Amino acid sequence: MRNFAPSGAFFMSFNSKQMNNARVDVLIGLQWGDEGKGKIVDVLAPRYNVVARFQGGPNAGHTIEFEGKKFVLHTIPSGIFNPETINLIGNGVIVDPLILQRELNGLEKAGHNPRINLYLSRKAHLILPTHRLLDAALESAKGADKIGSTLKGIGPTYTDKVSRHGLRIGDLETPDFVEKYNKLRTNHLAMVGLSNFDYSSHLIDGMDFETYEKAWLESTANIKTLQLVDSEYFINDLLSAGKTVLAEGAQGSLLDIDFGSYPFVTSSNTTIAGVCSGLGIPASAIGKVLGVFKAYCTRVGSGPFPTELFDETGALMRERGREFGSTTGRARRCGWLDLPALNYAIILNGVTDLVIMKPDVLDSLETINIASSYNIDGKVTDRFPFDINTTKPTPVYETVNGWMTDLKDIRSFDELPAGFKAYVSLIEQRTGVKVSIISTGPDRTQTIWR
Ligand code: GDP
Ligand code: IMO
Ligand code: MG
Repeated sequence: MRNFAPSGAFFMSFNSKQMNNARVDVLIGLQWGDEGKGKIVDVLAPRYNVVARFQGGPNAGHTIEFEGKKFVLHTIPSGIFNPETINLIGNGVIVDPLILQRELNGLEKAGHNPRINLYLSRKAHLILPTHRLLDAALESAKGADKIGSTLKGIGPTYTDKVSRHGLRIGDLETPDFVEKYNKLRTNHLAMVGLSNFDYSSHLIDGMDFETYEKAWLESTANIKTLQLVDSEYFINDLLSAGKTVLAEGAQGSLLDIDFGSYPFVTSSNTTIAGVCSGLGIPASAIGKVLGVFKAYCTRVGSGPFPTELFDETGALMRERGREFGSTTGRARRCGWLDLPALNYAIILNGVTDLVIMKPDVLDSLETINIASSYNIDGKVTDRFPFDINTTKPTPVYETVNGWMTDLKDIRSFDELPAGFKAYVSLIEQRTGVKVSIISTGPDRTQTIWR
């Protein structure tokens, strides 16, 4: 077991917002997304001065539940419900102004005032309506090999960023924004034309392209009135003033552009590398790394999933876990916990603390399987293979007893059933990382600290 000595802001900030050299703690999903990151960020937010999103865009759907209300955030950081916390959308995030405006409207309608504590990086790239057309055109051209993208324009927007064609939030403040917009739009439409994609009949969020574009352009005026900042200075000034930051990851480590199950991934670094480039902070500022994972596994969209279940246990996970996409409503694929994949994600991120989510979904199971290794062509390995798509590893399972107890109302570690504690111990043994937080339901209050 790794030494668990407190090293960063995470541990200290449990009790205070004390000064420490490493003031940025990071929360990252360790699977294929939807691990429950939003819930945990919301729970932790009061312990930090700042919550900052560093990558991804509105492909994310982070669910937060409290006082009988449920919110799904796509762009706004999940610290927004804590009135004391500054929420920063970092330069590494890509922003669709119309989706952001809808999110703001939704929160305002529910009686919140998200604009007060929300800051948006001028360097964050803009998702244009034509990025969404391109996303649909490219995905449709892939045919049976489609990624199952959320079609929010993620791939084309990050492509434009890297190929140096993109537009940024700060461009909205320049006098020739419309000119720049039209130039990029024209290029995009030419590319869509080349792909033979008939966009005239394609709907974006239920609207034809022209209607969507009109609403999008109108929304940019609104987004311009948000607190736009040079976020790298903004966050480093806060750190210099002794403030603590929780960096909120989107998607999951196995969807990382470099390390995930490529090409069935998203287009950003969802792992810890994305924190420095997506916020403009040095690696030395990073303290604790919280890795969030479900007690089982899910995946939405296409791509390899070694422990996927196609039987009634998979269906039970989907039903009890309400495993339907927060962004697209699609049914999530479900399967057993995959230790080779989990350990891979732990190594990539340097996870210091694990957060286990949704074990309550498994409450009624007499036995539970965990994949402890893979069998690839007769060879047993605990490593995540280069090409998991064609290698198709067969999981080697070990079976443990379930706990057959309702976890949802338990509020302390001591009260947890022995069978569940044994499950947690097994995970700790096999990963070498302590499980520091246990979530037993979607609500804020259904959280156990160790
Ligand atoms: P995220 O993208 O990582 O923030 O996760 P999502 O919000 O997309 O998906 C997690 C889903 O599980 C949401 O519907 C949450 O309300 C729900 N959830 C979170 N934690 C728990 C838990 O411990 N138990 C149960 N049953 N549901 C949970
Ligand atoms: P959160 O932050 C789960 C998946 C999509 C698709 C692939 C590429 O809520 O955990 P993209 O839209 O990026 O082109 O899709 O990645 N995906 C997610 N799956 N949770 C997410 O975010 C996801 N964001 C993207 O389903 O398979
Ligand atoms: Mg989600």
